[in-house]
Amino acid sequence: MKEKYYITTPIYYPSGKWHIGTCYTTVICDAIARFKRMQGMDVFYLTGTDEHGQKLEKVAAENNTPTKEYIDKIVYELQDLWKLLDISHDKFIRTTDEYHKQAVQKIFTKLYEQGDIYKDTYEGKYCTPCESYWTDTQLVDGKCPDCGRPVEIMKEDSYFFRMSKYQDRLIDLLENNPEFLQPATRQKEMINNFLKPGLQDLCVSRTSFQWGVQVPFDTKHVVYVWLDALTNYITALGYGSDNQELFDKYWPCDLHMMGKEIVRFHSIIWPAILMALDLPLPKKLYGHGWLMLGSDKMSKSKGNVVDPVVLSEKYSVDALRYYLLREVPFGQDGSYTNRAFLNRINSDLANDLGNLVSRTTAMVEQYFGGIIPEPTGSTAFDSDLISICEGVYGNVEKYMDKLQVPEALESIWALNKRANKYIDETCPWVLSKDESKRDELATVMYNLCECIRFLATMLQPFLTSSAPKIMEKIGVTDKSLMTFDSIMKFGTMKAGNKVAKGDALFARINVEKEVAELEKIADLCKKEAEAKEQPKEVKKGNKTDEKKAVAENTITFSEIAIEDFMKIDLRVGSVVTAEKVAKADKLLNLTVDLGEGRLRTIVSGIAKWYTPEDIIGKSIVVVANLKPAKLRGIMSEGMILCASDEDDNLSIVAPIKTMKNGSEVR
Ligand code: MSP
Repeated sequence: MKEKYYITTPIYYPSGKWHIGTCYTTVICDAIARFKRMQGMDVFYLTGTDEHGQKLEKVAAENNTPTKEYIDKIVYELQDLWKLLDISHDKFIRTTDEYHKQAVQKIFTKLYEQGDIYKDTYEGKYCTPCESYWTDTQLVDGKCPDCGRPVEIMKEDSYFFRMSKYQDRLIDLLENNPEFLQPATRQKEMINNFLKPGLQDLCVSRTSFQWGVQVPFDTKHVVYVWLDALTNYITALGYGSDNQELFDKYWPCDLHMMGKEIVRFHSIIWPAILMALDLPLPKKLYGHGWLMLGSDKMSKSKGNVVDPVVLSEKYSVDALRYYLLREVPFGQDGSYTNRAFLNRINSDLANDLGNLVSRTTAMVEQYFGGIIPEPTGSTAFDSDLISICEGVYGNVEKYMDKLQVPEALESIWALNKRANKYIDETCPWVLSKDESKRDELATVMYNLCECIRFLATMLQPFLTSSAPKIMEKIGVTDKSLMTFDSIMKFGTMKAGNKVAKGDALFARINVEKEVAELEKIADLCKKEAEAKEQPKEVKKGNKTDEKKAVAENTITFSEIAIEDFMKIDLRVGSVVTAEKVAKADKLLNLTVDLGEGRLRTIVSGIAKWYTPEDIIGKSIVVVANLKPAKLRGIMSEGMILCASDEDDNLSIVAPIKTMKNGSEVR
């Protein structure tokens, strides 16, 4: 029977734009899952989305959309992204799935009935975006230690999980099982910062919002989002349902992978829940570092993100997968720059790999009519190449076992570079001129093709579309020549395949030109994100088209019919009062006279460019028949027209002669 391997990513929080930081965990787990499958294991790879909590309820309400509808759209985008990136998960769980919610209720009830959960009153400092309570000692300058935002005092009747009961077992787990949590530095951090100071019981229900799994026996309460989310790792396998077959087969988990900021939840709360449920603990947790943009973590909430769809469409999915797998030292933080990404494509993919394949296939075409010849001769350089080929799997396996994915790729590239050097050493173009060296030339060509087969075989878990393309180019169609077993011994592939040079695997890139283009696209994305944050004062044209247009160096406008334009009721008005909106840097709250015999409230995202004093008494143009919308809790009844440009200038649009309030603008 095959050995099983259960691997999970965290479940993603659908709160904004997906970015390459989000892809990091998933692509790494994908490479590991594919590698283990190739090793003959029965792999179950789980990913999904974490869809409950106050923040999502709030954001959806601000967008005037039912919560589930709002979330669905973002979740579908993530599912499309995983398709694009060729992620090979076996299941995608959503915490809004009915089976999950029912299982969470069963788990909560079980823990309550056995006394591991009890009811009490709780007062504490709460960070809403992070859905976490913090003690005074954990706060940094009075703010949330994770995201740096202000915390609120919350008091509520709550259910508590007896975490303290598990403190000694948790310390024992982390101190005496070096394999359990890696890298080792995270283990020390958890013991010293959280376990040794003493664990408090954990508040595991909320009454301040509705969007979550109801506590079945006290429906005013919803289950704490982390308890709900963490249990996905077992509910996805059917735990708590009528069919526990997958659970019996795959649990305990072999690897929970996650970013370092959520190691605390996975290495303390999660094992404590499992202990309470009397279930086996996961075998390994790995807390990787972050992908940074400059010195900041790339994150949805900060909006400093790089779009994986743009990178994949412009430079290929494999280029992005390769960068994510290769560039960040595993376990540590790594910084993304467009330049480093593009340089990697040129040096490793276009030069090292692409050139080796295109040079070799071109030479086989030129010297042997495209048919891989029998290796009838020998050269002084063969044995070194062969021994590196035969050692490559062992090296890669050693690194993959330690989850050192960049090092695994490095050892594949050592072979790639050795093969390029072999071409320089054997100089086939010289051999080809001398008929007496025909056997040597044949051997060089065979050895190169066989070496390329070794490379393509090893690359399958990492470069999922290039590896099969390379196989095709050297005419390998037999699946048994694509297995790890088939690259233990050099020479397994028979001569006689027909090669096909075809198109280059990776096009060489003009780095300067592409950096400039990517910066332009990023700028537009940033503006788009900012515009989403505030009332849309200027919303002409289609931003997605505009983004594409920049990539193509053209500007397009989407046309509308005159009847459509006539539906917009534009009026002159004057600003009567203006003040800043509390806790919203970008917003001004205005009252505006449109000659209607009443004043309208309009919330406008112009605070960066105008102070209240600048605009009180000024004439403006208002979209008067816009459906009212709530912004930061204030009902806004219209939109002010403004002009803006790419240099971040903004000007309110106004009539150049004095006009009566209420005058139509056409
Ligand atoms: N919903 C929780 C996880 C619950 S698991 C039971 C969550 N979601 S998240 O969407 O915020 O993050 C999901 C994963 O993406 C985390 O592992 C996080 O570390 C990772 N990343 C998000 N931004 C990242 C980078 N910039 N770099 C690397 N990983 C990043 O946390």
